[in-house]
Amino acid sequence: MILGLSAMFLLISPAQSLTCKSQTFTNSKSYSNCMDLPTLGAYLHWTYDSAKSSLSIAFLAPPAKSNGWISWGINPTSTGMLGAQALIALKGSNGSMTADTYNISSYKFVQKSKIAFNVSGLKAENSGDLMRIYATLELPGGTDSVNQVWQVGESVTGGLPDKHEVQTANLNAKGTLALVSGAKAGSPFTAPTMTPTPTAGGEPVGPPKGGVSRIEISNFSSYFLLLIASLVLWF
Ligand SMILES: *[C@@H]1O[C@H](CO)[C@@H](O)[C@H](O)[C@H]1NC(C)=O
Ligand SMILES: *[C@@H]1O[C@H](CO)[C@@H](O)[C@H](O)[C@H]1NC(C)=O
Repeated sequence: MILGLSAMFLLISPAQSLTCKSQTFTNSKSYSNCMDLPTLGAYLHWTYDSAKSSLSIAFLAPPAKSNGWISWGINPTSTGMLGAQALIALKGSNGSMTADTYNISSYKFVQKSKIAFNVSGLKAENSGDLMRIYATLELPGGTDSVNQVWQVGESVTGGLPDKHEVQTANLNAKGTLALVSGAKAGSPFTAPTMTPTPTAGGEPVGPPKGGVSRIEISNFSSYFLLLIASLVLWF
């Protein structure tokens, strides 16, 4: 039983040692929640005002190369890149960081465009190895979870991000972000498997409901598996 218990501790502890908790912001800006995203060395900090459906985020990630780009977005209709309403930060031709909105409708090329949400305070920064995107998004009323996607790329041409690699880490850069009980959603242990399957046809804008209970169920099944594992170890 002791073996089983310590196995349980090992599996639970990563959630308690989040790197994002040590990241700080200028102007003593702060966010209510943060998570170490499970791939690409990326971090999300956010504050959600559910009464206004207003989501303030800081997304931090190392670009694939120093002159590359980083991106974070919400996909209101699906779980991957296509359809993502994205924010992309890169170093412009004049050397300073810029961020823009992109409605991603093709794997081949992207262009700056309006997105489905009002965005304010969009800003990009470069600090150390990480680029940062700041923004506040106005989500549809009643939103309590969203499909998030994130990405990094190695180069920029003509002020636009070039295609990113398609390694496992790139392809797995997506998951559910539970806005209402955000702390739980951040567990690297559950995030990659939580991606909901899009319903056929999809709802026009509203992201799928019930993200929170999905997470609790998936945590519950992991604990159940752990319990079985400890019994096997014991006998
Ligand atoms: C650099 O270019 C961006 C647009 O790409 C512009 O918004 C910004 O003001 C420019 N910065 C400087 C210092 O010229
Ligand atoms: C984004 O692109 C898709 C496909 O071209 C289009 O149907 C949709 O209206 C666009 N969204 C916005 C907010 O422009």
